[in-house]
Amino acid sequence: MTVDLTTRLVSADPAGIAAAVQCLARGGLVAFPTETVYGLGADATDGAAVARLYAAKGRPRFNPLIAHVPDLAAAGKLGIFNSDADRLAQAFWPGPLTLVVPRPPDCPVCDLATAGLDTIALRVPDHPVARRILRDFGRPVVAPSANRSGHVSPTQAAHVMADLRGRIEMIVDGGPTAVGVESTIVACIDEATLLRPGGLPRAAIEEALRHPLARAARPAESADEAPLAPGMLASHYAPRARLRLRVKDAEPGEAVLAFGPDLPPAMRHAKVLLNLSPAGDLVEAAANLFSHLRALDRAGVASIAVMPVPPEGLGEAINDRLQRAAAPR
Ligand code: TXA
Ligand code: MG
Repeated sequence: MTVDLTTRLVSADPAGIAAAVQCLARGGLVAFPTETVYGLGADATDGAAVARLYAAKGRPRFNPLIAHVPDLAAAGKLGIFNSDADRLAQAFWPGPLTLVVPRPPDCPVCDLATAGLDTIALRVPDHPVARRILRDFGRPVVAPSANRSGHVSPTQAAHVMADLRGRIEMIVDGGPTAVGVESTIVACIDEATLLRPGGLPRAAIEEALRHPLARAARPAESADEAPLAPGMLASHYAPRARLRLRVKDAEPGEAVLAFGPDLPPAMRHAKVLLNLSPAGDLVEAAANLFSHLRALDRAGVASIAVMPVPPEGLGEAINDRLQRAAAPR
């Protein structure tokens, strides 16, 4: 793996976007903003580019990638949509939803990108910069979160720089991302099944489907079997510090990740304290989650005490990421 590339940081203006598109066309690796987190893009049809992407992230090759396209018409050329997939795509694309569907025999996405599976993950992101790049490039772009494998996902260009400087060609800086957690992943193969909670709440999906989502056959995070969403390993999204979840007190020297207006006295006076949302708003909390984890980690503390976050709405995805960040590794 080349680790001494010059990583160009460009702004998300027409010149920066044109440079990004040219770079992708040459087989380069380009990080760009989506509404969820920054993605690390490569030409999905170019096996060599996709191989470089796995190497740059240090990502296991059994963990397939999401192909990003500008609209449903483009997605329809890469996957086979049943009625549930069609309904969800109509309702929520562009948006923070990834659909896993059967892959047709003539799918142009390279086998390495789908890790040899007969299904493919597809997403139409809702971010003007991502959409401009996808439209202008004209081919599908695989884009995992633009972090080193196992690290916290990036919600700012500076996070990408910290993780991938020297390993990728370019970062398009579009400011902080709005949603802050990755897309919700739903498999539409037979019964619609939730593979990963994310930026689109479960309730919205079930309302559009008019029936509940099936549960994944085995816990997606079981690391010893091939998981359903193969990337959902238990220890993921990990900061260096140890996390203690759902606690109402802080130990001496511990940093605090708070939620809501009412902080227990033991926490209020912690030296290092960040609040996901002082107002108790889950949308704001999701947007702040990964940058707060990175900031607390930078403070060099050994342990982070995390207050309880309610499980409804985006709270399902927030609690999922916190549990993974807290998992033993
Ligand atoms: O919000 C997002 O989805 C971001 C932005 C950049 O679009 N991308 C993202 O990609 O989170 P990544 O690679 O970090 O996570 C993709 C997940 C992995 O857990 C992977 O195992 C799963 O999608 N996946 C990909 N293809 C799959 C397939 N055919 N079947 C099941 N899971 C799949
Ligand atoms: Mg990721």
